[in-house]
Amino acid sequence: MKVTVIGGGNVGATCAYILSDKNICKEIYLLDIVDGIPQGKALDMWEAAPIGGTSSKIIGTNSYADTANSDIIVMTAGKPRTPGMSRDDLLAANIEIMRSAIGEAAKVSPNAIIIVVSNPLDAMCYSALRLTGFPHTASSVWQGFSIRLAIARLSLWNLAFPSKTFRHACSAGMETPWCPCRA
Ligand SMILES: NC(=O)c1ccc[n+]([C@@H]2O[C@H](COP(=O)([O-])OP(=O)(O)OC[C@H]3O[C@@H](n4cnc5c(N)ncnc54)[C@H](O)[C@@H]3O)[C@@H](O)[C@H]2O)c1
Repeated sequence: MKVTVIGGGNVGATCAYILSDKNICKEIYLLDIVDGIPQGKALDMWEAAPIGGTSSKIIGTNSYADTANSDIIVMTAGKPRTPGMSRDDLLAANIEIMRSAIGEAAKVSPNAIIIVVSNPLDAMCYSALRLTGFPHTASSVWQGFSIRLAIARLSLWNLAFPSKTFRHACSAGMETPWCPCRA
């Protein structure tokens, strides 16, 4: 499986590293607009792979051509919200980034599944669907929003068992296919 992560910042680099650590991808491309950043981060992660015992190859790039025929594209490029910034301000900034990035990525990987992480998530997801021109009927654009779920679970656990190390918490409406409570 070939995965492209667009945006080599906090979220993108972490995503690439976790994918590598799980050893589920043959190739991971970390793409960023800034020259040198994705290349340096990817090389560090790839060099660490033998220590983690994984065989995923991680390559940093600034070129969408390298990402051609990706099976999955994870869109993390975008500014995070800073103090005083409204969701509308963030939308204005990140829509331009989405516009410049996702069309290029989709052009060379027309069959990819796209997972959008950039905020504001709902609007970014809809923009990705429009800008790629991917069919609305196919489940081709997904929201990467499990952080809210994770935060809610952690808060629940901390409320119920403040002195214990976090293990797991779950409540109605928060279950997901990977929730251990379903086992
Ligand atoms: N959905 C969620 O649960 C969730 C969680 C955390 C963060 N986020 C969002 O993810 C986004 C990224 O957050 P972050 O902390 O990694 O930010 P960051 O600033 O660390 O990284 C963003 C990266 O995007 C790159 N970038 C900017 N324009 C680009 C372009 N046109 N093409 C390619 N790369 C480009 C930047 O160079 C930077 O490296 C933000 O919008 C943030 O709000 C979402």
